[in-house]
Amino acid sequence: MEKFVIEGNTRLCGEVEISGAKNAAVAILPATLLIDGITTLENVPNISDVKIICEILCSLGAKVTWTDIHTVVVDSTNLTCTHAPLEMTSKFRASYYLLGALLGRCKDVEVGLPGGCNLGARPIDQHIKGFEALGAEVEYGQGKINAKADELIGNSIYFDVVSVGATINLILASVLAKGTTVLDNVAKEPHIVDVANFLTTVGADIRGAGTDVIKINGVEKLTGNHTYSIVPDQIETGTFMLAALASKGDILIKNCIYEHMDCLSAKILEMGGKIENFGDSIRVYSDSKIHPTNIKTLPYPGFPTDLQPQIGVALSIADGTSIINESIWDSRFQYTNELNKMGAKITSQGKTAIFEGVEKLTGAPLYASDLRAGAALLIAGIIADGKSEIYNIHYIDRGYENIEEKLRKLGAKIERINEE
Ligand code: EPU
Repeated sequence: MEKFVIEGNTRLCGEVEISGAKNAAVAILPATLLIDGITTLENVPNISDVKIICEILCSLGAKVTWTDIHTVVVDSTNLTCTHAPLEMTSKFRASYYLLGALLGRCKDVEVGLPGGCNLGARPIDQHIKGFEALGAEVEYGQGKINAKADELIGNSIYFDVVSVGATINLILASVLAKGTTVLDNVAKEPHIVDVANFLTTVGADIRGAGTDVIKINGVEKLTGNHTYSIVPDQIETGTFMLAALASKGDILIKNCIYEHMDCLSAKILEMGGKIENFGDSIRVYSDSKIHPTNIKTLPYPGFPTDLQPQIGVALSIADGTSIINESIWDSRFQYTNELNKMGAKITSQGKTAIFEGVEKLTGAPLYASDLRAGAALLIAGIIADGKSEIYNIHYIDRGYENIEEKLRKLGAKIERINEE
């Protein structure tokens, strides 16, 4: 079992390079199954969730080759199987994208019920409602989902909740459907736009990604021999912006998109941090006390739930009381118990947490409960007095590439230790 050991009390200073977006990559890789040919993906994050998807693609008959550490070539010309290995697909959430992609290409699919981080209930009723509206029959139970159709025919689908996964899955299922599909009340995250841009590059006809309504005119086939570069990771960018603020450091964050960070930048300024925009890089620095503020997580362009634990660390040492309202996931305050072990004063009930700022955190043994909680604990360990040990770091490896190396270059004293 691996753990991180951190000697704290560090101001993070220097430069960091952001990787390609996890939540775009885990959708675009399955999307390559829709293509009758070879696709080259660049700026692919080298993280464990991506490696599992590549293995699953191979098990379906695709040929996957890493030509360097961030470039993957997928040849989906001859798919040999539409049933993805259950034990692999149920390991992570984004395996649900195999549903949309294989249903779209082969009109038949079976995957394990999606696993992933434990954030409370994670229904997929909106995905299923959408597939059925296109004419698929969907059955689920005993740990798996099957969907099949004689043909998929475009339809109008209104989503009851704004869902990243359902939006992308219905884009995947409808690009090769007959006629026009209109998706209403869709998610607008940068990775939705990236998936649509990718599919448009390979021949799909998708309009409106990034707005509330997406219209897809089905096409006969998607073609190979294209190269596409995955968008920089909005959440990794935000994690380093908050690491700079919380550690009263000075970080130049390179290969990122400033406009994706508007909501977080506004909060960082409100909390006393300073920001400079250089187009494809952002400098975040701070040398003063952190001001308290209130946060409500919302779908994009609102404050991302995936940055809630990281901003929670900064608020735990703010000069006053702050409130966070988590409106996306039921169970995203588990990290506050770990911060309280470090001397924070946070009370959480249901989807609300109250942060009474304390002067300092103190190092402790800490347990990551999910990916973003893990990222928050890394920041907490770096700013705390003394030594912290972080366990369950496989969660962190799911979404952050080479995180300890990036943090070490910024001055963090962090080691990955393999413990029997
Ligand atoms: N929801 C439903 N029914 C559905 C789908 C979603 O009720 O059919 C609800 C969920 O329960 C939740 C809300 O809608 O309350 C939003 O869920 P969404 O479908 O948008 O989430 P997701 O697609 O499962 C993705 C990211 C998550 C991120 C959320 C919200 C991927 C692989 N995962 O999850 O990322 O928190 O969107 O932005 O893209 C992470 O990266 O750490 C992570 C958890």
